[in-house]
Amino acid sequence: MAPPLPPRVLVTRQLPGEALDRLSRHVDLRVWEDELPPPRETLLELVRGMDGLITLLTDRVDEPLLAAAPSLRVVSNVAVGYDNIDVAACTARRIPVGNTPGVLTETTADFAFAMLMGLARRVAEADAYVRAGRWRTWSPTLLLGADIHGATLGLVGLGKIGAAMARRARGFGMRVLYVNRQARPELEAELGLRRVDKATLLAESDFLSLHVPLTPETRHWVGRSELAAMKPGALLINTARGPVVDQAALAEALVQGRLGGAALDVTDPEPLPLDSPLLTAPNVLLAPHIASASHATRGRMASMAADNLLAALEGRRPPHCVNP
Ligand code: DGY
Repeated sequence: MAPPLPPRVLVTRQLPGEALDRLSRHVDLRVWEDELPPPRETLLELVRGMDGLITLLTDRVDEPLLAAAPSLRVVSNVAVGYDNIDVAACTARRIPVGNTPGVLTETTADFAFAMLMGLARRVAEADAYVRAGRWRTWSPTLLLGADIHGATLGLVGLGKIGAAMARRARGFGMRVLYVNRQARPELEAELGLRRVDKATLLAESDFLSLHVPLTPETRHWVGRSELAAMKPGALLINTARGPVVDQAALAEALVQGRLGGAALDVTDPEPLPLDSPLLTAPNVLLAPHIASASHATRGRMASMAADNLLAALEGRRPPHCVNP
């Protein structure tokens, strides 16, 4: 009797590290090689007949996609966030959905803190200033920024990445407040954090940093009224998901000078359109969604996604599975 055919798996982009080599020893692998994600129509064609799917946050997994892939047995997202996936629809079809928590915590917090410091101390502006040949002398008023030590950091969300951010902030001599669904008394004791209500967080934070997943509850968590309630001149850091912030309201608050600045690694939509008012608003530091982008971390994320996928194809629950 002929041996059974290996499961068919689609990976929607090239991945760093060993994951693809390892997968190719176990499954019949099809990798989308382009730099850009497969267009929607192409994706719907590619998933036909697939048993497994490794997705990125740029790929929408929803009812129409699942309907186009009746033999699909697992979706494994190379990200901790999974707002690109309709998990309820997957669950209804008994399809486990994997994600990559933990491995990107420290790398993401490193970058969130880098964005905070870069914005406070105007690093990108300073670089552009020197390159443009504008540096004529040392000046006591040149490129003045905000102090980080002694300032108050408000954390929206105290999960793994929020906690890693709090550790960094304490190391830099900041006072740290947080809002989170649950109190984290062990972290309060370890790091001297204080859980406050939303109004206090907004009123007292010099820096507000977002560390929540995108859900219906967190969409536009920072909206017009929150921006109005923030401490005048405060700085906003978003390395979570773009739609957690109402971007039109943010641009307005920046232009009106109510907010001191914003550092955004994530935007709504992505990529940020070149006519976005954020590109001309004052004191905006931008990055193309790279908070987890270290060589080691991206390799670990790919590897974890491969583990999740292979477990499900072998009939086990993926080690990191987000279905209830
Ligand atoms: C995630 O994992 O959700 C990030 O946004 C990308 O690393």
